[in-house]
Amino acid sequence: MADGIKTVGIDLKYDRNKIKWIILSVSIIISVTSIFYTNLLVSQLKDREQSQIELYAKALQYTLDAKLDKDLNFVSDEILIKNNSIPTILLSESGEIIHHRNIDIDSALNEKQRKQLLYEELEKMRGEYEPIEVIVREALTNEINLVNYVYYRNSFLLTQLTYYPIAQLSIIAVIAFIAYMAFDYSKAAEQNSVWVGLAKETAHQLGTPISSLMAWVEYFKDQANIKDKELIGELDKDIKKLQVITERFSNIGSTPVLSEEEIEPLIGSIIEYLRPRISPKVEITIAALTKGIKAQINPPLFEWVVENLCKNAVDAMSASGNIHIFILKGSEGRVFVDISDTGKGIPKSKLKHVFDAGFTTKKRGWGLGLTLAKRIIEVYHGGKITVKSSEEDIGTTFRISLQS
Ligand SMILES: Nc1ncnc2c1ncn2[C@@H]1O[C@H](COP(=O)(O)OP(=O)(O)OP(=O)(O)O)[C@@H](O)[C@H]1O
Ligand SMILES: [Mg+2]
Repeated sequence: MADGIKTVGIDLKYDRNKIKWIILSVSIIISVTSIFYTNLLVSQLKDREQSQIELYAKALQYTLDAKLDKDLNFVSDEILIKNNSIPTILLSESGEIIHHRNIDIDSALNEKQRKQLLYEELEKMRGEYEPIEVIVREALTNEINLVNYVYYRNSFLLTQLTYYPIAQLSIIAVIAFIAYMAFDYSKAAEQNSVWVGLAKETAHQLGTPISSLMAWVEYFKDQANIKDKELIGELDKDIKKLQVITERFSNIGSTPVLSEEEIEPLIGSIIEYLRPRISPKVEITIAALTKGIKAQINPPLFEWVVENLCKNAVDAMSASGNIHIFILKGSEGRVFVDISDTGKGIPKSKLKHVFDAGFTTKKRGWGLGLTLAKRIIEVYHGGKITVKSSEEDIGTTFRISLQS
């Protein structure tokens, strides 16, 4: 992470990244070892086939030499027959095919088609290896009597083995991809259950002290000496806020119910709540393109998002500035809520991290505000939250996109 950015709390990404690296490294090690080993096999098999074909050419030479004795002829015949895998063509000096071996020819083909197929094969062989000369000399004068050429190419086995690493790599890549996706999915599911479980438990635990506080306030209201005090009113407000917080946690811990709500008055009430809690030098305005824009939302959760975005906006301003909230209707029934500030902006390099859990540039920040906002908007509302624009020392606009 870049300088000046601290990551607080448990680094959720650390383990995930570690396992991703392990999957990647293991895949690379398997691939490299397999390619290396197969290449070794290929080159050994090639050498073997090469010497086999040289032996084959020699055997041919003996066979063609009529003066050799019968025993030798038998040996060379054996060698010739032993070549039952390498495709070969024996070509005369004048370019005529004298003999061929291990070339699949469909028995249904006529003589002309057979010939054509053999010459096509010959062309392929020419492209692969130089032919081996088979020279038969006069026994006495040692003059060259006859020159033939053995053309050949890799056996089917060797060809297959050459392509084998590609097939193997593709399979490894597919398996690694599936493993990676499965891992990502299970991680997301795990995080999901942590969020939900923690939220439920918090809502549950807050219930008891809040009921008790409410009872205490009722008790104080009956006490003649303190009942008119301002204190009671303030306590009442704080209890209400605690109830809102409990409701938020309880909503995030269950499947929240969405209802069609008018956005402008809802945001108005949030601002009303925030107003006395933030610096008077920060001006908050709200405007809507048209009156009565509605969207499908869960009010307690949506309020939480707007509150988080406004708090971030205030934090981004050193002393004074403006926060402007603009509500508009887009195409296909979309509703946009743009929250703009005149704060310090987000540097480009940090833009892609702002929604990451634990990412904060603040001394007392948890780096959870935007993660929570994103989760509420995307998971619970099926909407989107993005940084619409941000410029350093000018300001930032966050956009929430909802369905009406
Ligand atoms: N309006 C904004 N202007 C400039 N930077 C912002 C703005 N909103 C968010 N950021 C940057 O994104 C970071 C993450 O924001 P987020 O709300 O997730 O966490 P936080 O505010 O640091 O901590 P907390 O968990 O208390 O909200 C902030 O620390 C800040 O650097
Ligand atoms: Mg925040």
